Amino acid sequence: MSYLKTPDEIKLIQEGGRILGEILEKLAKMVLPGVNTFEIDKEAERLIRSAGGKPAFKDYKGRKNDRPFPTTICACVNEELVHGIASKNKVLKEGDIFSIDIGMEYPSPKSLKSIKSVKTMSERGYFTDTAVTVAVGKIPEKTKQLLNVTRKALEIGIKQCVVGNTITDIGRAIQNYVEPQGYGIVRDLVGHGVGHAVHEEPRVPNYYNKESEKWILQPGVVIAIEPMITMGDWHIVTADDGWSVKTADNSLCAHQEHTIVITEDGPIVVTRRPSEKL
Ligand code: MF3
Ligand code: CO
Ligand code: CO
Repeated sequence: MSYLKTPDEIKLIQEGGRILGEILEKLAKMVLPGVNTFEIDKEAERLIRSAGGKPAFKDYKGRKNDRPFPTTICACVNEELVHGIASKNKVLKEGDIFSIDIGMEYPSPKSLKSIKSVKTMSERGYFTDTAVTVAVGKIPEKTKQLLNVTRKALEIGIKQCVVGNTITDIGRAIQNYVEPQGYGIVRDLVGHGVGHAVHEEPRVPNYYNKESEKWILQPGVVIAIEPMITMGDWHIVTADDGWSVKTADNSLCAHQEHTIVITEDGPIVVTRRPSEKL
């Protein structure tokens, strides 16, 4: 797994990212009171497969002994932050906030007829990863502010994605924007390199981290930036299902994510949704 992607690889990452952004926008429009998150998940899988991709999270294992992640999207309501499992029982109601995180391998990898367990590069697709937190119906003003700050935090991180900066610059800028406003920034989870796999080096923290200075941004670097912002304390806990992560104090939290390619002419946000206007 190399840190830099070739121009041909970047073309596929851009194409996959554009498709994934369009899909996420369609899913976000389904977010209404009374909808169950399993319906959104089914539509997500259908849209990805009909576009020639493969869901990247379904069956994903962070570690060898993990239970495979069961759904196409990560579906998180209110105090749930990431890795929530979509379910018929998880029904959205007015006033909730709901985050959809979605990843795709594109093009879908060719099925292997041989018994090889490791796929060669040309048999695999390229990975993009993106997330949004949206309001379910009407939400309180304070909650709107949480969503706005999280969205803006991502944009501030993206602005740092210029050649010659380091991964440290991204986290520093996000932290300097978010913390003075009284919100928390999750520490245990971070953004990441992406493209050949869902998660690659480097780690991309949403806070100042001196060690990240060794990762210098250069053309061909592809990363996912994903601020995870809390209304209260930033500590998180993992649920008994082994996946869902929520805030320890049950405070509301929000998550926004884009896949970004660094180029000589500045960052390309490959997963931009059609409606996103800056
Ligand atoms: N989408 C998550 C991220 O942004 C990773 C999800 S892995 C899963 O890094 F298995 F939980 F889906
Ligand atoms: Co990610
Ligand atoms: Co993600």
